[in-house]
Amino acid sequence: MNKIILTICLIGFAVASNPVAIFHGFGDACANPGMKSFTKQIAAGVNGAYVKCVEIGNGAMSSVLMRFDKQVENACNSIKQDPNFQGKTINVLGLSQGGLIARGIIETCDFGGSVARLISIGGPQMGVATIPKCHKGIFCNILNGLVDDLVYTPLAQKTVGPAGYFRNPKHYNTYLKHSIFLPIVNNERQVNQTYKDRFVALEKVQLTMFSKDSVIDPKETAWFSFYGTDGKTVVGIEQQDVFTQDLFGLKTVYDAGKVEFITIDGDHLRFSTEDIQNIYIPALQ
Ligand SMILES: *[C@@H]1O[C@H](CO)[C@@H](O)[C@H](O)[C@H]1NC(C)=O
Repeated sequence: MNKIILTICLIGFAVASNPVAIFHGFGDACANPGMKSFTKQIAAGVNGAYVKCVEIGNGAMSSVLMRFDKQVENACNSIKQDPNFQGKTINVLGLSQGGLIARGIIETCDFGGSVARLISIGGPQMGVATIPKCHKGIFCNILNGLVDDLVYTPLAQKTVGPAGYFRNPKHYNTYLKHSIFLPIVNNERQVNQTYKDRFVALEKVQLTMFSKDSVIDPKETAWFSFYGTDGKTVVGIEQQDVFTQDLFGLKTVYDAGKVEFITIDGDHLRFSTEDIQNIYIPALQ
């Protein structure tokens, strides 16, 4: 009898999940009904683990207009101030550009703990070749007005969030020199061994690509793939320089079999309740 109880207790401990920090996408906010419901569904599936949508600045407007490195810094400060995250082993889950915030947290956030799992859903991990589609709202004029190299001006880098992960495939050197975010976390300018050590310490990376994604360009950026120098042909993860040179540990993690590639049929972030149950909750446990 005691043995049975002990076994049950051990199983109980074994399935306890890490706290989960969730980061929303471009133009969204933790307080929006969609994010609230998503966060609730995740929380219901992870055995009472602490689950929190981490807001950046004031929400929607900050996700668009705050420079990207500052968004990560802001999110990092919230994690440091939260006793449920600070010093703990946590999981991070990001939707769309939140997937890139999540990677920024893994590599750059000194919160005294470590990140075990990265769940990136439609995340522009290798950047975007065009600024994400903007359908309505006051930001669209600003965003749509930014073309090509203009996006790398210090003003654009500092005032438009997604400019920090814009990458013109034909002008790699301009990106490398002037982008304030992506080349840093990719260790493309110089290698920060701490960033790499932290990424390599991940036990799981799950990457979801949407087959008809019309928001992030190319859709394959969600799988660490991107346009080649012709600006048209998509080059896979295994042929990316950041991968072959293992600049931030992606190859190490991939070779260890820790990267899971998921395809969901549909447009950007069009996953279902069943997908949350069958794909995301298991990845957090
Ligand atoms: C590397 O990153 C760590 C952690 O954020 C930081 O403390 C350190 O100063 C960085 N090193 C370099 C050379 O930038």
